[in-house]
Amino acid sequence: MEKIRVFASTDYDVLIDSGLLPQAGELIFSAMLPDTGLDSLDPMAARKKAESTTAVIVSDDNVFPLYGETLKNSLTESGYKTIEYVFPHGEKSKCFTTYEGLLEFMCEHRIKRSDMIVALGGGVVGDLAGFAAATYQRGIAFIQVPTTLLAAVDSSVGGKTAIDLKNGKNQVGAFYQPRLVICDTDTLKTLPKEEYGCGCGEIIKYAILESEEFFDELLSKPVSEQYEHVISTCVNIKKHYVENDEFDTGLRMKLNLGHTFGHAVEACSGYTVLHGQAVAMGMAAIARAASGMGLCSKETEVRIMEILDRYELPKDITYGLEEMYDVVLVDKKNSGSVTNLIVPTSIGNCRTMKVRTEMIKGWLEEGGIVD
Ligand SMILES: NC(=O)c1ccc[n+]([C@@H]2O[C@H](COP(=O)([O-])OP(=O)(O)OC[C@H]3O[C@@H](n4cnc5c(N)ncnc54)[C@H](O)[C@@H]3O)[C@@H](O)[C@H]2O)c1
Repeated sequence: MEKIRVFASTDYDVLIDSGLLPQAGELIFSAMLPDTGLDSLDPMAARKKAESTTAVIVSDDNVFPLYGETLKNSLTESGYKTIEYVFPHGEKSKCFTTYEGLLEFMCEHRIKRSDMIVALGGGVVGDLAGFAAATYQRGIAFIQVPTTLLAAVDSSVGGKTAIDLKNGKNQVGAFYQPRLVICDTDTLKTLPKEEYGCGCGEIIKYAILESEEFFDELLSKPVSEQYEHVISTCVNIKKHYVENDEFDTGLRMKLNLGHTFGHAVEACSGYTVLHGQAVAMGMAAIARAASGMGLCSKETEVRIMEILDRYELPKDITYGLEEMYDVVLVDKKNSGSVTNLIVPTSIGNCRTMKVRTEMIKGWLEEGGIVD
């Protein structure tokens, strides 16, 4: 089992292995011991404490039927009481209505600050459950059990929690770290192909950002044949960014490689293009633009296109220049008249460029976006 400790406002472990879900109860029990203040006492006292703790399992209607029972049984065997809140899958559920429903559900069941939320699912479940945990009674413990590749390598680690508003993604949220992340690679076996591709988009992003060696590994062997290695490599990269800039004021912005144009694609599509696919298109566009402007070599651009092709990810943005530009203008990452663009300079190296917002149109054009 890979165990990666993240040092942030709350320190926690990320556990990565096959077969972890049936052990989730005991893993959570061990991780929560320091919280109870009972670790140095009789283990029976700690077990009694677990017996008075309710785990609120939050999941969606695709994931819960697949893995809910295993998680519930494991928690029950470790002494926890469980209740579950299951909502319809998809980004549309990452909204105020679901969030409010979850808070009311917890209140109705008299959930206390000493109870906990266990998020079982992809990034939608993790972001929403994490935000509920951050805000319910001013904060209760939460555990991430990511079941998508994207959630395993990205959203379950780092403490960004959020819900969407009608006019923008992730517009309400909090930085709130989980107490534990349990990534059971067996759950990835049931992932639909396009969701696997989305995770690969984010994985390729980490390689372009940080490591040519990792990039080559992704080209020589599919992600699905090396899940533990790939997930732990990505988590270690993310850990570095989170530990050095937990609240996203500088360094962590680099993780937005491909996201500025990617978010615009998502918005232009009315959120029908999946996040990882939009990021792939965004990375292709910024690589074309960087190469066109002489900021990276043609070879770097070609290699980025090659790896996106290898993982059957889309590269071409079909939305028009004006439409894309309008959306970039309202992207939350614009600070005043300057946009932070993350630009690849070679494989494994990127730089943050502060670009005057009126110049973005030129970047989009260089990126192959036409009217
Ligand atoms: N917090 C962060 O740092 C962060 C980072 C990146 C993305 N995000 C957010 O994550 C969300 C996207 O996450 P996602 O791609 O995991 O989407 P998702 O949670 O919607 O999951 C994708 C689909 O896969 C299904 N699914 C999940 N696990 C499955 C499994 N094991 N087997 C079969 N089906 C399964 C889900 O029901 C859903 O239909 C977005 O809202 C994005 O904003 C957050």
